[in-house]
Amino acid sequence: MAKTRQRWGTRLGVIMAVAGSAVGLGNFLRFPVQAASNGGGAFLIPYFISLLLLGIPLMWVEWTLGRYGGGYGHGTAPGIFHTMWQKNRFIKYFGVIGIFGPLVIFIYYTYIESWTLAYSFFAITGKYAGANTESAMSSFLAGFQGLERNGYFGSIAQAYIFFLITFAANIAVIYYGIKGGVEKLCNIAMPLLFICGIALVIRVLSLGSPDPARPSWSLSNGLAFMWNPDFRALASAKVWLAAAGQILFTLSVGIGVILTYASYLSKGDDVVLSGLSAVSMNEFAEVILGGCIVIPAAFVFFGPERIGSVASSGAFNLGFVTMPLIFQKIAMGAFFGCAWFLLLFLAGITSSVSLAQPAVAFLEDEFDITRPKAVTIFGIASFILCQPAIFFLGKGVVNELDFWGGTFCLVLFATIEVVLFAWIFGMNNAWEEIHRGADMRVPAVYKFIIKYVTPVFLLAILGSWFIQEGIPTIFMKNMPGSNRPFVFAARALLIGIFAVLAILVKIAWSRKRRVV
Ligand code: ALA
Repeated sequence: MAKTRQRWGTRLGVIMAVAGSAVGLGNFLRFPVQAASNGGGAFLIPYFISLLLLGIPLMWVEWTLGRYGGGYGHGTAPGIFHTMWQKNRFIKYFGVIGIFGPLVIFIYYTYIESWTLAYSFFAITGKYAGANTESAMSSFLAGFQGLERNGYFGSIAQAYIFFLITFAANIAVIYYGIKGGVEKLCNIAMPLLFICGIALVIRVLSLGSPDPARPSWSLSNGLAFMWNPDFRALASAKVWLAAAGQILFTLSVGIGVILTYASYLSKGDDVVLSGLSAVSMNEFAEVILGGCIVIPAAFVFFGPERIGSVASSGAFNLGFVTMPLIFQKIAMGAFFGCAWFLLLFLAGITSSVSLAQPAVAFLEDEFDITRPKAVTIFGIASFILCQPAIFFLGKGVVNELDFWGGTFCLVLFATIEVVLFAWIFGMNNAWEEIHRGADMRVPAVYKFIIKYVTPVFLLAILGSWFIQEGIPTIFMKNMPGSNRPFVFAARALLIGIFAVLAILVKIAWSRKRRVV
């Protein structure tokens, strides 16, 4: 008996869910670091160019492909690609990347998300209150992560408990399905996230110059550090790559998740305005909220000489070391500390549930099994896969998973889907499909952009990335020798996951042929 496909409850619900997938840890931690270390205000030029030429077109492509595939009962890339190019027997295997990528991100993202839950608890209970120097706060973090034993933590037990809670919360949301789980979560979490974000921005903007003895350590200089353009940065290819990579990661395009979310739309539902609304919410959260919290606050408390090294110390250091130190120095710091980590947790969970969807939808759609069964299989498999990220965190495993799942696959998958859409499906069909039920017309210039500019831009990024980062990563340049066995094991695991997914695709299609 054919199953009826799940559907979103309301239009606002699907926009909130896609925006929830987009607004994530990337907006509040990754973006400020990228902007501050790649030219400050000048970063926004390649950033907005990438938004217009990559982010927005890919968003429309994914919404359209997802809705199209959903009409044929497919919510993931293997089925959607196959429907679009039926004559090609291999195209469905390219679609495997759209399940593999999000699954790989899910297995480390959920663990990092669990730190934010733990730290919101630590903030309100005053657990990190005694750690008031950078080295003490770094030890607190390392102790929590199980990387060292110290006076703060004797083992990884607390981190593991918070991981179990976070993992269970994710599975529960997925279990309740698209309308009953994801949509409900995002309808509550997204407004709450914006309230936390706006409260934090107001708090940061009211910092002024807290220390009269150091007038240059002022908020206005902090904002200037973040936003004053350094146009020399535009001559560097690295800055353009960073901007384009940030756009793909932050909008969750090229991952495969929007295809799945959009597959639960009805044939006549608008995708043009809805997609644009989700992009706008993400950009508000990223540029306005994300850009006004960590870096300006760190400037006020660490001063102009230190800010450069603080900004380049990396996203985790800023979020889990710098920010807790700042919260200890401001009035109502426990409250604002809790709001900061709650903001990150809400941003994280609304993204991680989306990362889980493709694998679950694949099992449901292509093997015709019920959602509870699909969620159980996903839960067991992903729980096992999360363990290396937890226990070998200090051995380069998470970086390796992030490189392949969170960087390389994004660009590769985005290139495949846009070429398939514009060149194989054909731009005239594509244009008609985008506008089915649309509440606004896409400017005609996007016909040209989607067909030529986006694919060429993506190929250029893929090529430069491969040379700049791919080759050193593959050959493990600059990696401590002691990490290499773990990184090899992580690669074997990645190959294993990909192979299992490809075999599942093969089995699913052989079964379909037999049934037909
Ligand atoms: N788009 C999500 C983020 O920014 C994955 O974190």
